[in-house]
Amino acid sequence: MNYKYTSRSEEDTLEIAENIESEKFSGMVICLNGELGSGKTVFVKGFANALEVKETVTSPTFSLIKEYDEGEMPLYHMDLYRLEDKKDDIGLLDYFNKDGICIIEWPEMLEDDLPEERLDITFKVVDENTRILVFTPHGSRYEDVCSAVL
Ligand SMILES: Nc1ncnc2c1ncn2[C@@H]1O[C@H](COP(=O)(O)OP(=O)(O)OP(=O)(O)O)[C@@H](O)[C@H]1O
Ligand SMILES: [Mg+2]
Repeated sequence: MNYKYTSRSEEDTLEIAENIESEKFSGMVICLNGELGSGKTVFVKGFANALEVKETVTSPTFSLIKEYDEGEMPLYHMDLYRLEDKKDDIGLLDYFNKDGICIIEWPEMLEDDLPEERLDITFKVVDENTRILVFTPHGSRYEDVCSAVL
């Protein structure tokens, strides 16, 4: 089952991310799909705020992954836009087995290496301030998150 949410402002996207955070669990994986500027990093900022990460979240475009350890649980923020064929070199896939939460921008770069159980969110740009977010849970834990929040 898919869940649809219409975000009418950056604040709406921050808030929905905060609500998802309230249902977090260790090992959670969230994949954010959508074009450039659709709001993926805004979502990560909202999630990190709720997790009580004090550091400002910026896109890790050049480092591919950034780790935030000061919140309630470790947060691993990946941006794979510039991923070349080096995911094994930097141990990217190991992050899925850590105690913490992975949020991934441009997850399609990992194709079959993504965990089967995960929450996919697709961001669609409608106009300057409007985004449609489509949530697709894979696995019962993620179904539960969506039915609690959406
Ligand atoms: N409803 C909305 N939700 C989220 N962001 C919005 C919304 N309306 C407007 N915006 C604006 O859209 C931009 C989203 O930028 P953001 O960096 O989150 O995109 P992104 O999807 O991470 O892009 P990239 O693929 O380049 O990393 C911000 O400038 C934000 O203010
Ligand atoms: Mg981004």
